[in-house]
Amino acid sequence: MSTRPRKILVTSALPYANGPIHLGHLLEYIQTDIWVAFQKLRNVDCIYVCADDAHGTAIMLKAEENGLTPEQQIANVKAEHEQDFAAFNVRFDHYYSTHSDENRELSSLIFERNKAAGYIIEKEITQLYDPDKGMFLADRFVRGNCPKCKSEDQYGDNCEVCGATYSSADLIKPYSALSGATPIEKPVTQLFFDLPRFEEMLRSWTRSGALQNEVANKLAEWLEGGLQPWDISREAPYFGFEIPGYPGKYFYVWLDAPIGYMASFKKYCEGKDISFDDYWARDSEAELYHFIGKDIINFHGLFWPAMLEGAGLRKPTAIYAHGFVTVNGAKMSKSRGTFIKASSYLEHLDPEYLRYYFAAKLTSKVDDFDLNLDDFVQRVNSDLVGKVVQIASRTANFINKLGGRTSSELDNSLLVSEVQNAASNIADLYEAREFGRAMREIMALADHVNQYVQARAPWSLNKQEGKQQEVLEVCTTAINAFRLLVLYLKPVLPVLAEKAEAFLNIEPLTWADASTLLLDHEVCAFTPLMQRIESDQIAALIESSKDTTAAAVMQNDENKKSGDKKNNSKKKDDKKDDNSVDEPISIDDFLKVKLRAARIQKAEHVEGADKLLQLTLDVGNGETRNVFAGIKSKYKPEDIEGKMVVLVANLAPRKMKFGVSEGMVLAAGPGGDDIFLLSPDDGAEPGMEVR
Ligand code: MSP
Ligand code: ZN
Repeated sequence: MSTRPRKILVTSALPYANGPIHLGHLLEYIQTDIWVAFQKLRNVDCIYVCADDAHGTAIMLKAEENGLTPEQQIANVKAEHEQDFAAFNVRFDHYYSTHSDENRELSSLIFERNKAAGYIIEKEITQLYDPDKGMFLADRFVRGNCPKCKSEDQYGDNCEVCGATYSSADLIKPYSALSGATPIEKPVTQLFFDLPRFEEMLRSWTRSGALQNEVANKLAEWLEGGLQPWDISREAPYFGFEIPGYPGKYFYVWLDAPIGYMASFKKYCEGKDISFDDYWARDSEAELYHFIGKDIINFHGLFWPAMLEGAGLRKPTAIYAHGFVTVNGAKMSKSRGTFIKASSYLEHLDPEYLRYYFAAKLTSKVDDFDLNLDDFVQRVNSDLVGKVVQIASRTANFINKLGGRTSSELDNSLLVSEVQNAASNIADLYEAREFGRAMREIMALADHVNQYVQARAPWSLNKQEGKQQEVLEVCTTAINAFRLLVLYLKPVLPVLAEKAEAFLNIEPLTWADASTLLLDHEVCAFTPLMQRIESDQIAALIESSKDTTAAAVMQNDENKKSGDKKNNSKKKDDKKDDNSVDEPISIDDFLKVKLRAARIQKAEHVEGADKLLQLTLDVGNGETRNVFAGIKSKYKPEDIEGKMVVLVANLAPRKMKFGVSEGMVLAAGPGGDDIFLLSPDDGAEPGMEVR
């Protein structure tokens, strides 16, 4: 090992500028912040940068939907993101945007260097084009019938029913998810990054030992499957950087997103005595770590190192991937109120609770992560309030009462040494990102200290004549142990640490302070450090997160998916919609769905729609409903007029291209052509509840 002091640059993935920060995101930013805070406590030179990921079709469309320019959209979201991060004490050294001059320059530079080295190739391909919208469609925005199993209304790149992957051009009856129009095929020349030429390099880099086993295995799988050139250009209209030398063509968002790490750091260096090249030149000795979620491993483990290599730059020292957050054992769900935004959490609960819970459950592995809310309450209350804070709350007042100074001798120096000696093991666990094990070590020590306090019972001792010095020494022992535990928890709980430092009347603790003691030292008056979580706070949080009209969240998945595709890395569980097919629902959820019999009064073709029939439904009591149903391929309008159907009667109205749909009709039967509607003569009456 070199004896040169470490220089570290750390990043978290750049959140998309089209939606709010939620608890899933926070796992990553809190994990990274804890690791960085630990390094800083140890006086290691460690810089943490991040940025908003501001480019791409989804953000462009989101801006349009909000009636904003993309620039306004990304500025608003960035301000919200920064506010949320600050509230959770995620302490970036610099937070930027990928829509910046630095990023434009660096993206051009990396592109030009790769081009000069022969790694950029041009290929003519056919792509689907939306004639109504006047734009090429990313796979995510094309829907149609699966070419393999013929299931209707599938995404442009994979079928959720049979799992087939294909190209959107192969869909049967494709339509644009943006306008409903039938896309046309258009030839277009695109730029590709010649990834296959980096296969050799990637094979050895993957085995360099710096990757988690799961990640290395995943990469090996992709390498075995063979690499494909990567499409890095997009046609206007696109919100991003125009490619130098190719007017009307833009860098695909995933080209400039990781370069955004460099750009944020470059801006940070400005006016400081830090050399950008020291960190990024090929022979750099600085360490570079990317913390990411498992859904974006291919971008960071294949494309990114290859692009850096092609441009003659250094590659990451390591990539640290984490799993996905579930809440109460299931995907975060708006209807259950478990799709919890950072800002909603903040209205009800202290951010330190979440930081602790995440730390307590984090490992260095890629496993998914369940936030069980009962366990969360129990864990925080019993560990933080019941163990750590309790040490101080049971002893501090005696020091305050007995002169306000700690004694110059300890009642039990063995106990304090035990806590001191744990420092190096706990440091190793932090360094290795085994935060859960670190928290268990710390809580085991807290248990010992509490047993000691319980056994020495200063509250009884203090009632005895002439025992005051002993009481002071017992409490000084406890408070010294407390100070050390707070230090060990400081990367996780900076606010608790700050309050404790104020009470202890000391300078901010650093890791080196583990070897010192607080003897014959004046402390300040003790005030409560942390409240218990009450279960009604959780109930209120869930209630306020419930969104019964929740539409599926269309995040920027489009981007990940088209990048993924070429390397077969697509996995169902990597998807980020909260409406997964097999997610179990409770009977209560089911009972919320109001099913009613309805009679089809009128069925008509819809001008310009391939799949839809417009139905006028008699739902009883003289009320009618307008519903657009995707059943045109199976039924002639004249055949179904007068028939009874089952209607989902309380579905929130949905605005479609052709009008507002006020419900959904259900059909039952074996599927395919044999879908049955209720017949007119089985005694059903419009308006009757069906279940
Ligand atoms: N913009 C890209 C990253 C570009 S990095 C050059 C992106 N953005 S994101 O907003 O979708 O996600 C940001 C990070 O949060 C990713 O690492 C992602 O894995 C993580 N998470 C988003 N939802 C998550 C969970 N539910 N659980 C855990 N992490 C999750 O991807
Ligand atoms: Zn299929």
